[in-house]
Amino acid sequence: MEIILTVEWMKQVSRLARGEGRLSGLVPTMGALHEGHVSLIRAAQQECSPVTASIFVNPAQFAPGEDFERYPRRFDADAALLESLGVEYLFAPEAAELYPPGFSSYVKVEGLGSRLEGRSRPGHFRGVATVVLKLLEIVQPWRAYFGRKDAQQARIIQQLVRDFHLDAQIEVCPIVREADGLALSSRNAYLSPEDRRAATALHRALGAAQAALGRGERNPANLAAAMREVISAEPRAAADYVEVVRADTFEPATRLSGECYALLAVFFGTTRLLDNMLIVEAGGGFRCEI
Ligand code: PAF
Repeated sequence: MEIILTVEWMKQVSRLARGEGRLSGLVPTMGALHEGHVSLIRAAQQECSPVTASIFVNPAQFAPGEDFERYPRRFDADAALLESLGVEYLFAPEAAELYPPGFSSYVKVEGLGSRLEGRSRPGHFRGVATVVLKLLEIVQPWRAYFGRKDAQQARIIQQLVRDFHLDAQIEVCPIVREADGLALSSRNAYLSPEDRRAATALHRALGAAQAALGRGERNPANLAAAMREVISAEPRAAADYVEVVRADTFEPATRLSGECYALLAVFFGTTRLLDNMLIVEAGGGFRCEI
């Protein structure tokens, strides 16, 4: 595996791959890799060659007071893992490489970017959209892979690609979970043992919404109420938001139709975790992807 530190070097490699007509794949990450990232790498390897993974803890997507400084950094272990998986290129620029002195252009996805996560974390999606636009421009992948745990992020990136006529196809891959249902996240490492146990409330809440749906409940507000009940019953959990939204706009769903997300953002101590379930109208009913 070649570790690439500069934009110019990465662009050269990308140009070469494109010139040879190869269908390259990109898996953007902030490191602290886990099985969720591994599933993205494997999905990319099934369809693309070469595969580039990026590791960049993007300062622009952390608001002041968020966890940028303490975000887990395990570069050597991550690089060894990527190498063992057979990833061809690891793009790992320093912050000054992507944001040199005088950098002043940012991308804002309006509407979608200001709801839910955007409301709770002002500036977050501006940072995500900016860095993803950069990565797509530098690596020029045929396909780029993102996890559905960050469903709103994935939707915003699809919008970015559409709005800027970018060539990359955006693939959104299923959530990978621990045996007890907790969605894998680099931030799970922050949880105390007690909060780790309590954090199963996220998955249990989605299960409650799924069960209600199975009993014939079709009112999004009642599905959200079923989730809230589970979160409220967990003393270590403090909900930021618990909502059922339309999957295209992330606006509150007034009725279930097409594709919707049941979404949660919940604090366990100071750790804020996300989870979601996709609800798809199919064959006269609804199926859930947890
Ligand atoms: O999901 C992440 O890890 C990050 O938001 C991303 C997409 C790599 C951009 O920094």
